[in-house]
Amino acid sequence: MCPKVLTFLLVASIQIYTEAYGDDSTAMSTLKNEWENTPSTWVGADPCGGNWEGILCNNSRVFSMTLAGVGLRGQLSGDISSLSELEFLDLSYNTGLEGSLPPSIVNLKKLRILKLVGCGFTGPIPESIGSLELLESLELGSNRFTGTIPPSIGNLSKLLVLDLFNNLLEGSIPVSSGTTSGLDMLVKAQHFHLGRNRFSGTIPDELFSSDMTPIHVLLHDNNLTGSIPSTLGLVQSLEAVRFEGNSLTGPVPSNLNNLTNVTMMILSNNKLTGPVPNLTGMAYLNYLDLSNNSFDASDLPSSFSNLKALTTLMMENTGLEGLVPPALFDIPSLQTLILRNNKLSGKLDIASSSSSKLKVIDMQNNNISFYPETPERRNKGIVILVGNPVCEHAEPTANYCTVPQANSSDTGPPEKCVPLHCISDQILSPNCKCSYPFRGVLVFKRPCLESIDSNSYEHLEEESLMRSFKRHELPVDSVVVSFPKEGLLGYLESNVSVFPSGQNHFNTTTISAIGSLLNLQTIENPNIFGSSYFKDPYPYSAGKPTVPDKLSRTGSLIGAVAGGASFLLLLLLAGVYAYRQKKRRERPSEQENHFAYLDLKNSDSVPRLKGARCFSFDEITKCTNNFSEANHIGTGGYGMASLSLFYCPAMVVSFA
Ligand SMILES: *[C@@H]1O[C@H](CO)[C@@H](O)[C@H](O)[C@H]1NC(C)=O
Ligand SMILES: *[C@@H]1O[C@H](CO)[C@@H](O)[C@H](O)[C@H]1NC(C)=O
Ligand SMILES: *[C@@H]1O[C@H](CO)[C@@H](O)[C@H](O)[C@H]1NC(C)=O
Ligand SMILES: *[C@@H]1O[C@H](CO)[C@@H](O)[C@H](O)[C@H]1NC(C)=O
Ligand SMILES: *[C@@H]1O[C@H](CO)[C@@H](O)[C@H](O)[C@H]1NC(C)=O
Ligand SMILES: *[C@@H]1O[C@H](CO)[C@@H](O)[C@H](O)[C@H]1NC(C)=O
Ligand SMILES: *[C@@H]1O[C@H](CO)[C@@H](O)[C@H](O)[C@H]1NC(C)=O
Ligand SMILES: *[C@@H]1O[C@H](CO)[C@@H](O)[C@H](O)[C@H]1NC(C)=O
Ligand SMILES: *[C@@H]1O[C@H](CO)[C@@H](O)[C@H](O)[C@H]1NC(C)=O
Ligand SMILES: *[C@@H]1O[C@H](CO)[C@@H](O)[C@H](O)[C@H]1NC(C)=O
Ligand SMILES: *[C@@H]1O[C@H](CO)[C@@H](O)[C@H](O)[C@H]1NC(C)=O
Repeated sequence: MCPKVLTFLLVASIQIYTEAYGDDSTAMSTLKNEWENTPSTWVGADPCGGNWEGILCNNSRVFSMTLAGVGLRGQLSGDISSLSELEFLDLSYNTGLEGSLPPSIVNLKKLRILKLVGCGFTGPIPESIGSLELLESLELGSNRFTGTIPPSIGNLSKLLVLDLFNNLLEGSIPVSSGTTSGLDMLVKAQHFHLGRNRFSGTIPDELFSSDMTPIHVLLHDNNLTGSIPSTLGLVQSLEAVRFEGNSLTGPVPSNLNNLTNVTMMILSNNKLTGPVPNLTGMAYLNYLDLSNNSFDASDLPSSFSNLKALTTLMMENTGLEGLVPPALFDIPSLQTLILRNNKLSGKLDIASSSSSKLKVIDMQNNNISFYPETPERRNKGIVILVGNPVCEHAEPTANYCTVPQANSSDTGPPEKCVPLHCISDQILSPNCKCSYPFRGVLVFKRPCLESIDSNSYEHLEEESLMRSFKRHELPVDSVVVSFPKEGLLGYLESNVSVFPSGQNHFNTTTISAIGSLLNLQTIENPNIFGSSYFKDPYPYSAGKPTVPDKLSRTGSLIGAVAGGASFLLLLLLAGVYAYRQKKRRERPSEQENHFAYLDLKNSDSVPRLKGARCFSFDEITKCTNNFSEANHIGTGGYGMASLSLFYCPAMVVSFA
């Protein structure tokens, strides 16, 4: 071959990298080099051409990167900011992703979803994050971010989800004033998850207004003071309110009773005073916890029996006295009633009404003098009266005078499969199949562990999770949830193992989907789970020696195909180049341009390089149902698009 042709081939191949493959190959290869445990399908130089798992492109530009819970390690380098077409970025549950967020992330102007939940990020949230004008979801929960909430977040006028839960953030909650922005400007946002940080100061009156439409306002477990602003009562859309674990004082504003859509309200562990609030306007209220406050000593309001949707009522240590109104036991849905550490007295009169679902009645340390136990009641659930006068003279057989102990049933291999053994470090599923499960930890607050029947608890969770996986058509064979134990910080934790069906391992895409779904699931079903979150998936790449082999063989196969394809492409380009050169010679007046073949993309007469090897956006919208509401999981806004994207068929290397 003559040198001219060789030179051409060299130039051509460089140009293919930067033009045909888009600008993103450099940035992606930097990220790939900086991260450990990238998918084995990340081979070759073109992130859009080689079926890179977790990457979706539009016109040869990366517009979605979704790698949740795949065990990525390393830092998020500033190079990511050159992926200027990026709209979805989800790197959640990679606990090995550390360091601070590069401030240049605010250059990703097209970003709509930024999900970095459950990673190891530290340092401040970039001050000008508010310049990501298109952001709909900012989810930075369960990291170790420090500093204050950047007021510029108030500029995110399209924001639906703000999740800063479980970080080390401090300072006050910013509201707008004249020149500065604040969270009160987020009138579209449905989720304010600011719990478990170190926020201080008062909850500003200005934070809430009737213009807002939040469904979750979670400010729990901070260091907030002052009273609950009465403006909260203007936010008619509210469904969950969690202010527990602060130092809030003063009375509960009476207009909260206007919030008819609230299903969960937790105000426990504060210093609230005044009368026990009248909440009978909350017709759908099913979880109410007012424990550990300093309300005026009073009877348990009999109006509580009008809360027909109530499943859990917790009023431990709230100054209650007098009789427990018998009508309370007629609430058909009530399952858990915790009234410990009050001064409730007299007879505990639980009519053996057949409709009652009450499983747990915990009345420890009250002044109950008489309890006529019936056999029906004993079969239905647990009553605990330890620390009441009634137990001072009770017969030793009275089981309501002991605190039942939970039976831990840490799951070994299921009994029915006992003769089976799995090779290497595979694990036996409940359906007796050997595979590599995806494992993680569910963290949650349960009202009363000691009185929960472990079997029904685990099955509730397992069934609920399985339903969710089925609904999202994930290839899951079975789920095992262990009985919860107390973890760090006093939160209860369960181990979760998700077993694959079909194959003995999940691929990265599915892992990513399961990771997202586990977290969404816990939010979707706060009543069953007692409000929980998902953390610490075990890096899935760990402990599966046979799998990487297989995957990397597939990987190199794809690489080979892609490589061969590139060579064909080169030949094709060479042909086109020669053709264009010939044409040019025929049009001598035309300006000399050695890179004329770059115009390929604009020419009708030659193969289209740009976009041809990626999904068209049409295809993507087809398989994600236009990022429609229908694909949202749980209540409003969660996991928008990013989850459903996983179900796109694999990209095909072709020149069609
Ligand atoms: C894909 O690219 C086309 C053309 O540049 C553009 O019109 C479209 O909005 C892009 N789609 C996405 C999802 O970025
Ligand atoms: C936020 O918006 C205000 C105007 O509403 C503007 O003055 C300010 O510069 C913006 N801040 C950022 C960080 O974009
Ligand atoms: C909470 O705030 C009070 C005063 O506002 C302060 O004394 C206390 O140290 C703070 N607690 C924590 C855990 O930050
Ligand atoms: C209350 O919930 C219902 C049903 O979910 C919904 O249609 C209605 O818009 C909600 N009310 C408000 C004020 O958001
Ligand atoms: C809310 O409750 C207050 C009384 O607490 C009442 O005066 C007001 O009219 C109610 N507002 C709405 C919108 O129902
Ligand atoms: C509680 O509020 C309801 C309206 O939601 C009202 O009808 C009822 O009278 C109130 N009860 C008390 C004791 O104030
Ligand atoms: C109430 O406070 C006690 C003592 O601090 C604590 O053990 C208990 O868990 C608290 N109850 C609730 C429901 O948070
Ligand atoms: C307990 O109840 C009895 C009446 O049943 C009452 O005499 C006594 O004062 C109460 N004790 C306390 C500590 O409230
Ligand atoms: C714990 O196990 C024992 C025997 O194995 C059983 O009798 C008891 O009912 C169990 N308790 C609970 C709460 O499941
Ligand atoms: C989860 O599994 C790990 C490792 O097997 C174990 O150390 C831990 O105690 C388990 N945690 C729970 C809550 O069961
Ligand atoms: C991953 O697994 C799912 C479900 O089995 C499958 O639909 C998908 O095509 C796989 N993705 C890749 C890149 O192999």
